Parts: sequence; C-alpha cells; structure tokens
Amino acid sequence: MPLRSNLFAREVIPFCLQLAVFVIGALAIEALLHGLNGVWLGRYLGIPGVLLIIGSSGYSLRKRRIITFGNPVRLLRLHEYLGWAGSLLILVHTGVHFNAALGWLAVLAMLVNIASGLSGKFLLHRARS
Ligand code: HEM
Repeated sequence: MPLRSNLFAREVIPFCLQLAVFVIGALAIEALLHGLNGVWLGRYLGIPGVLLIIGSSGYSLRKRRIITFGNPVRLLRLHEYLGWAGSLLILVHTGVHFNAALGWLAVLAMLVNIASGLSGKFLLHRARS
C-alpha cells in the first residue's frame, strides 16, 4: 500500500499537474493575447515554437553520437524544457480555432507527443530510483 501511494505522490500526480499546466498555460496565454488585442501575435508564435523544438533535438544528436559535445543529462533536461516550451507556443499558435479535421488531428498528435514525453520522463526517473 505505501508503494502505491508513493507512486501516486511521486509520479502520477506530478505527471497530471505538468500536463494540466501545459494545457492551462496555453489557454492563459491565448486569453492574454485576446485581452491585449494581440491575437495576431499568435500567428508568429509557430516560428519560435518550431525553433525551440529543433533546438531540443540536441539530446537525440548527442545520444546517437552525431555530436560529441554536451553533457547528456543536461541535454535531456534541455530537451524536456525546450520541447515543452516549443509545443506550448505551437499550441497557442494554433489558437484552437480551425475548422478542418487535419488541424485538430495535428494538435491531438502533439498533445499525445507531450504526454508521451512526460511519461518517458517519469518512467526514466522511476527506473533510475
Ligand atoms: C514536440 C516536442 C518533442 C519532440 C519532437 C520530442 C522528440 C523526442 C525524440 C525524437 C526522442 C528520442 C531520442 C533518441 O533516442 O534519439 C525523445 C526522447 C525523449 N523525450 Fe522527447 N520530444 C518532445 C518533447 C518532450 C517533452 C516535453 C518531454 C518531457 C517533459 C520529453 C521527454 C523525453 C524523454 C524522457 C525521452 C527519452 C530519453 C531517452 O531514453 O533517451 N520530450 N523525444
């Protein structure tokens, strides 16, 4: 029983919270842009979002020995932060106002990607401990 409550306190709850902060963060930025009459800005957020995600791939390059510099642990942390932040900007960029199924599918795929990245993070943490 203590093992199970440990799992909830250490992995399940933080995982749900981080996913919720992601979605709530995107909605809050979106609301802020609406409030400040800056919805147009959202159109440009896709560019830094993509750049952040490209920047996050340093970990993969290091792991596959395509590059040989950089501390893998730090690069993995950076991958998590940049991937999270880049996806957040892209989610705001979509503005969740599109009428085509393809747009919804792309956002859904990105959310699955974030949930999978977060799951990997917590699984790695648990495997290490
Ligand atoms: C759009 C955003 C993201 C993309 C495109 C992405 C892509 C990838 C790729 C390609 C790998 C495989 C690396 C390799 O083996 O070469 C990976 C691994 C991983 N990602 Fe992400 N990721 C994203 C976001 C995230 C986020 C937000 C997190 C966590 C907060 C995360 C955590 C991880 C973890 C823990 C691994 C496994 C590391 C390992 O075992 O070597 N990712 N990701």
